[in-house]
Amino acid sequence: MASEKKPHQYAPLLSQEVNHEDLESIPLTSNFTLDLLQQEITKWRRRFYLLLASSLICILTISAGSEYRLRTTPTSEFSCPIFPTNHGSVEIPYSPAPVKYVNKYLVGDPDTKKFMGEPRPELDEAWHELLDATLIRYTDDELALANNATSVRHKDGGYVGGLGISHALHCIKRIKQYLHPEYYYSHEKQDWKELYSHVDHCLESLRQELMCSADVNVYTLKWTRHSRFKPSVKVPQPHACVDWEALHGWMKGRASRFEDMIGPPDRLYEGLE
Ligand SMILES: *[C@@H]1O[C@H](CO)[C@@H](O)[C@H](O)[C@H]1NC(C)=O
Repeated sequence: MASEKKPHQYAPLLSQEVNHEDLESIPLTSNFTLDLLQQEITKWRRRFYLLLASSLICILTISAGSEYRLRTTPTSEFSCPIFPTNHGSVEIPYSPAPVKYVNKYLVGDPDTKKFMGEPRPELDEAWHELLDATLIRYTDDELALANNATSVRHKDGGYVGGLGISHALHCIKRIKQYLHPEYYYSHEKQDWKELYSHVDHCLESLRQELMCSADVNVYTLKWTRHSRFKPSVKVPQPHACVDWEALHGWMKGRASRFEDMIGPPDRLYEGLE
């Protein structure tokens, strides 16, 4: 290769600059003073370029830093379960909900017992508590920030609405109850076709929501004594979870009821029997 044939050819660091080795090889001729002057000029020129280069690097670093801060600050408080870094041009939707992350292993949750198993008062109570504050109050300003949305009016001002998580939890509760129709539904009065399509809709929206915020935690496999033909799944690291207690506390602080809603205008039903 051409470059290998000329091992001592250096590309100048900055244009016009004289290489240090070249300076050392300047012969002491009658032009000594001139050479010294030349060396001085070169030295100062080198200092000037170094200063220029470091100033440029400094300016670039500072502006890149502030650009980064500008891009990340307004989104870091948003309620996106995907960490909102590296989202490029994708818009992170506004939400007034406070989101704090906590590390958590999802196996061995002490709450698991009360959400699983046969229908019983403890299970119903657990689900009821989880869906407390499903309806919450929003201010006019908050919904204006949420893509100029409107909702059902709250009789004391603002609107009544909810969060995505409440819809998802409602759906899981629906599916759980569907597993025990004899306990939760009356066989005579229930519209089974309607119930089926409700549960089916719930599964479909859960599918989309889970894929939307795709969990990319590393899961691993392990052979165990009680799984001879299929290895068990392991999760080597704790998840980073939204602090549910903190979020639910915030929701409870703005809980609304059906009775707080301003009802529909009569004209909506004109012409209907
Ligand atoms: C919301 O409405 C305001 C006032 O009409 C407008 O300036 C703003 O661009 C709108 N925002 C969105 C996201 O549509």
